[in-house]
Amino acid sequence: MANLLTMNDLSARDIEWILDRAESIQKDKKKFRESKPILVTNLFFEPSTRTRFSFETAEKRLGFQVLNFTSETSSTTKGETLYDTVRTLEEIGTDIAVIRHKDDHYFDQLIHNNIKLNIVNAGDGSGHHPTQSLLDLLTIRQEFILFQGLTVAIIGDLRHSRVARSDAEVLTSLGCRVVFSGPKEWHNPELPGDYMPMDEAVRIADVVMMLRIQHERHQHTLDLTKEEYHQAYGLTLKRSEMMKKGSIIMHPAPVNRGVEIADELVESENSRIFKQMHNGVAIRMAVLEWALETERGEMNRGELIKEW
Ligand code: NCD
Repeated sequence: MANLLTMNDLSARDIEWILDRAESIQKDKKKFRESKPILVTNLFFEPSTRTRFSFETAEKRLGFQVLNFTSETSSTTKGETLYDTVRTLEEIGTDIAVIRHKDDHYFDQLIHNNIKLNIVNAGDGSGHHPTQSLLDLLTIRQEFILFQGLTVAIIGDLRHSRVARSDAEVLTSLGCRVVFSGPKEWHNPELPGDYMPMDEAVRIADVVMMLRIQHERHQHTLDLTKEEYHQAYGLTLKRSEMMKKGSIIMHPAPVNRGVEIADELVESENSRIFKQMHNGVAIRMAVLEWALETERGEMNRGELIKEW
C-alpha cells in the first residue's frame, strides 16, 4: 500500500505504470464495464431524512456502489451548474443519479442536454415526487387491494406540495376519487379533484392524507398560529372520530406533531405513516432496478436482488 499525496511520491517508473494501466482500462472498456458494479450517486440539494436514507439503503441492498454528494462541500459552492455537476459525475462513472433539488423541473436542463446517465427524481421543488407517490400507492394497495372507487382526501398545503401533485394525478388515473381541503390561499387549480370543507373531506375519505406546511417554499406566511391552524385545517382528535370505519391516515412526513396532525394520531391504530416509510426502501429498490432494466433490456428482474 502506498500513499499518493504529491507527485513526488511517484518515480518515473510508477508514472509510466499508471499511465499504461489507465490506457489499458480505457481500451478494455467493454470488459471492464461488464465486471464493474453499478455506481449510484445521491445528490440532495435539499434536506431529507427518509428519502435520502431509504434510497441509500435500497442501493446498498441491491449491492450497488454508492456515492453521496453534499452540495455544501462540492463545487456548486464555487458556482458550478447542476448540469456540469451531473455531467462530471457521469464522466466519473455514475450509472444512476438520484437527485433532489429546490427548482421545479430541474431535470429538464439535464435530459434536454447531453446527460446520458439515468436520473431518478427524489423531489423537484413544488413539482413532483414519484418515489413518494409509488410508496403511497403500495401502502394504499396493501390496505385496500383495489384503487378503483376509493376516496382519497389530500389536505393542507396543496399549492407547494410535490407529493400532492404526484399523488393526485396518479390516484385519479387509477380510478380513485381525489378530494382536497385546506386554506384557500393554498388551493391549487392545477390539481385534479374537488375542494370541500375539512370535516366533510375527513368524513367521506378512505384515505386521509395530511401534508406538512412547506414553509421553505412560502412567499407569504398564513396569519394563523400553529394552534389556530391545527383547529382549522389539522387532523384533530375530534375530527379523526368522524373518519369512516376502515379508513386510514397517511402523511409523507416529516410530521409537525400538533400542527397538521394531532400528536396522538401519528402512531394510532389507523395511521400508516410509519408503514409508508417502511415501504420506501422496497419501492426504491424496485425503481432502481426498473431504471437500469429500461436502459439495459437484457437485465433480469430477480438478478439484482441479493439478500434483504
Ligand atoms: C416530502 C417531500 O420532501 O416532498 N417528504 C418526503 O419526501 N417524505 C414532504 C415534505 O417535505 O413535507
